[in-house]
Amino acid sequence: MSKAPTLLKTIEETRAWSRQARASGTVGFVPTMGALHAGHAELIRAAVRECDHVAVSIYVNPTQFGPNEDLAKYPRTFESDIALCRSIGVAAVFAPTDEIMYPAGKESLTVVHVPDELTTTLEGAIRPGHFDGVATVVTKLFGIVMPDVAFFGRKDYQQWLVIRRMTEDLNLPVRLVRVDTVREPDGLAMSSRNRYLGNEERAAALALSQALRAAQVAVQRGTTLAEELETCMRDSVALHPGVQLDYARVLAADNLREIDRVDKSSPDSAVALIAARVGTTRLIDNCLLPPEPGALIRP
Ligand code: PAF
Repeated sequence: MSKAPTLLKTIEETRAWSRQARASGTVGFVPTMGALHAGHAELIRAAVRECDHVAVSIYVNPTQFGPNEDLAKYPRTFESDIALCRSIGVAAVFAPTDEIMYPAGKESLTVVHVPDELTTTLEGAIRPGHFDGVATVVTKLFGIVMPDVAFFGRKDYQQWLVIRRMTEDLNLPVRLVRVDTVREPDGLAMSSRNRYLGNEERAAALALSQALRAAQVAVQRGTTLAEELETCMRDSVALHPGVQLDYARVLAADNLREIDRVDKSSPDSAVALIAARVGTTRLIDNCLLPPEPGALIRP
């Protein structure tokens, strides 16, 4: 068993830890909101493989939740999160309070805003202000942890693009690594919110991964029109009564702009994105198109 990670509570002690770690190698960073699952474990493993010292942050960031969202009931599982970090060999966990992150309150803060489709479509349209909250807290976390490399999951595809653009635009000295989505054996993408699902809802939640698979298979069989693929995803979701679709879109993988067709000769050039509510739980998922060989989601 590895040594327990050093628990860092303040900005000063986190910077001191980072400076010392950087003196003897690279610092990898995995920002999280806790409630860690196998998807996070994969991110952390990738960081441990690639970097000499790994820090994980556990902070449920209030500024990325809308007024009617699940901030208060967002799962908090600190003890088991620390145990998971320890088992994978995380060197330090930064777990700040709201007072440390937002000492002057959340309203009077400088905000990092990423423009265009990246923040106004899909999650940005449904959750106004969400990506300002994400971009701002990730910028702050980068300034506090000072990592060489930071790891993000492909599951939050739009978030990944927002953070990539922000890091480039602001010349932040951090290399970003994207780690693939981890799925349950039946295809459901791992998410901290899956633990809200009752048995029937858990079965219905497969609507998302099945719709994505339907799009993957359709492309393999020759359908390339984005509109037809979106219809195919919507039809697939309609087979699951009780699942309320927010969106099913096929867009350019690089910038979420509209496309007419998926380019069959260019793997991963498009992305299918889906969001739906199952009971009161909102889930998102995505897959790249055309799928690379072996990337078909399991039925
Ligand atoms: O993906 C998440 O868990 C959060 O959005 C992040 C990146 C930790 C920022 O709060």
